[in-house]
Amino acid sequence: LSKENTVTIKIGVIGTGNMGADHVNTLHRSVSGATVTMVTDADLDRAREVAAAVPGARVARSAAELIGQPEVDAIVIASPDNTHAELAIAAIRAGKAVMCEKPLATTLDECRHVVGAEDKAVAAGQRRLISMGFMRRFDPGYVRLKASVDARAHGAPLLVHCTSRGVSAGPGATTELAIKGSAVHEFDIVPWLLSDPIAEVSWHAPCRSRSAGDLQDPQLLLLRTANDVLVTVETFLGAGYGYHITCEVVSERGTVALAYHDTVIDNGDSRCFSTHPADWRLRFADAYRLELQCWVDALAAGTGPMLATARDGLEAAAVAEAAIASTKTGGMPVAVQVPEQMP
Ligand SMILES: NC(=O)c1ccc[n+]([C@@H]2O[C@H](COP(=O)([O-])OP(=O)(O)OC[C@H]3O[C@@H](n4cnc5c(N)ncnc54)[C@H](O)[C@@H]3O)[C@@H](O)[C@H]2O)c1
Repeated sequence: LSKENTVTIKIGVIGTGNMGADHVNTLHRSVSGATVTMVTDADLDRAREVAAAVPGARVARSAAELIGQPEVDAIVIASPDNTHAELAIAAIRAGKAVMCEKPLATTLDECRHVVGAEDKAVAAGQRRLISMGFMRRFDPGYVRLKASVDARAHGAPLLVHCTSRGVSAGPGATTELAIKGSAVHEFDIVPWLLSDPIAEVSWHAPCRSRSAGDLQDPQLLLLRTANDVLVTVETFLGAGYGYHITCEVVSERGTVALAYHDTVIDNGDSRCFSTHPADWRLRFADAYRLELQCWVDALAAGTGPMLATARDGLEAAAVAEAAIASTKTGGMPVAVQVPEQMP
């Protein structure tokens, strides 16, 4: 992809948990034109373990130290959601490009502060610095869905059905976190897929899975776009059987849907089966790699980010806010309000 790259982008990674360690590994092994020079984590032993697998990578004692290092050109933020806004703003102030894992922040107000800080930097002559880790935009299946919708291969889209199922809800999962952390992927991918913003959301709760505790699992959201396409979103964190993402677009003369992730269908013993990945890292491995390569290529070429933007992160957060407001009104439709004024 980037054989002509002559520039090597020096990358620092904040947070070396599941996602950060995966990004370090992908950047090191599968992305050209980049080198991981520094990592940090609140758990420094974890950071040391991850750095040890990358020749030359050093450990910073804190995120602030990493952001200030001249040996870091660009930063991946893969620490918990509630740290994203502060770290993104610190990186903007240091003039460094960021690939921020979703969500942009945990509140709409924090999102506004990040967008406002970036707008100020742009007004002062800086390039846009924030890219969002909405990796589904790079998944080959979603890319083909979008090409079909854009070409109106089956006429205009009318309905979209999305399901997002995982094996088990993590500790401390709540209904609100499932919306902000999991359904937020749909809040980004649906407007991107349809080129049509989400205008209204309603939340619906079926009977609760007995393993779900306080979490409403599964939950169903009904989204209405500005052009009146209706979108069903099932979020089921503890579905038990595997990590399984589906998306089907129903248009006037046909449908187009993601196929199974596995490329192998096994026929034998009078049965036909395929398998599900255990988690998102396997399901979206290609998407994470392509996203990071695209980010690095754009930085090397000086063309600015090609990924979802901070504003996309703000818009997805506005849909999440509307969905959460709907949970509090027994499922009434709530209009999505995207803030226009930034601090
Ligand atoms: N794009 C996706 O598909 C996807 C999938 C999973 C998680 N995520 C996002 O990635 C981020 C990380 O998730 P995860 O599953 O890797 O979580 P995790 O808990 O496995 O890892 C987070 C790490 O950050 C460290 N940390 C906490 N506070 C820190 C700080 N202030 N500075 C530096 N490090 C700090 C923790 O010690 C931990 O090692 C979250 O924002 C999450 O929403 C995205």
